[in-house]
Amino acid sequence: MARHTVLTLRRQKQAGDRITMLTAYDYTMARLLDEAGVEMLLVGDSLGMVMLGYEDTLSVTMEDMIHHSRAVARGAASALVVTDMPFMSYHVCVEEAVRNAGRLVREGHAQAVKLEGGTDFCPHIAAITRASIPVVAHLGLTPQSVNALGGYRVQGREARQAQALLDDARAVQQAGAFALVLECVPAPLAARITQALDIPVIGIGAGAGCDGQVLVAQDMLGMFSGFRPRFVRRFAEGGELVRKAAEAYCHAVKAGEFPAEEHGWGMEDDVLEKVY
Ligand code: KIV
Repeated sequence: MARHTVLTLRRQKQAGDRITMLTAYDYTMARLLDEAGVEMLLVGDSLGMVMLGYEDTLSVTMEDMIHHSRAVARGAASALVVTDMPFMSYHVCVEEAVRNAGRLVREGHAQAVKLEGGTDFCPHIAAITRASIPVVAHLGLTPQSVNALGGYRVQGREARQAQALLDDARAVQQAGAFALVLECVPAPLAARITQALDIPVIGIGAGAGCDGQVLVAQDMLGMFSGFRPRFVRRFAEGGELVRKAAEAYCHAVKAGEFPAEEHGWGMEDDVLEKVY
């Protein structure tokens, strides 16, 4: 299967072929999702909650992102690997943003980076793009701003906020972003933004009118029960499957049923007799 690129994704938007994106944080999951045909793998900073057990994404470091990004990149044969720039890795100045985006590509083997923010971050997007690093912008509910936003809530419900979102979307496209993630935005507004842009818009909690969809893989698999946002559909009860398998394993070990003969190696009796 050929590699998905910024060009193939743009063509998908033009052809009306919806884009699929899921998060991945490790090699095994990346391989499975890639084999299933997922077109973009997001090494999201949601790994702070899903992989590391933090309350939010704010404690995630560049080292965390590089570590997980390298693993995902090794498992992704076709999918485009996009890695999140963590909180405070691009906020201080444009130079630091470019340097850190470069680290995610060179050390984390990302093929693109994602950062949260609109007009205020256009200089950063432009500079990173100039360094030949493709950028995905992220607007709407931007989890790194949870404290400033006063919680995880739908964005763009009022006219002024909705206009600001559309303006931001146009601005990040103009700055060079090759795609946009829209999170927790009313569906009609997300559809309007999608129509207004030439770049692919990937929605999460933003309705079916976007060019593609992204979910946290563990949410989609029913494996993460920290909280369950309204926009999540469980396509499997993976958590239950894991729990049941682990219970069966514990039972088999305690009962002496596992390992069975076929799971090990025998040896000649006379060899063992020589051992004292
Ligand atoms: O970090 C993440 O998983 C994300 C998605 C929710 C879009 O940014």
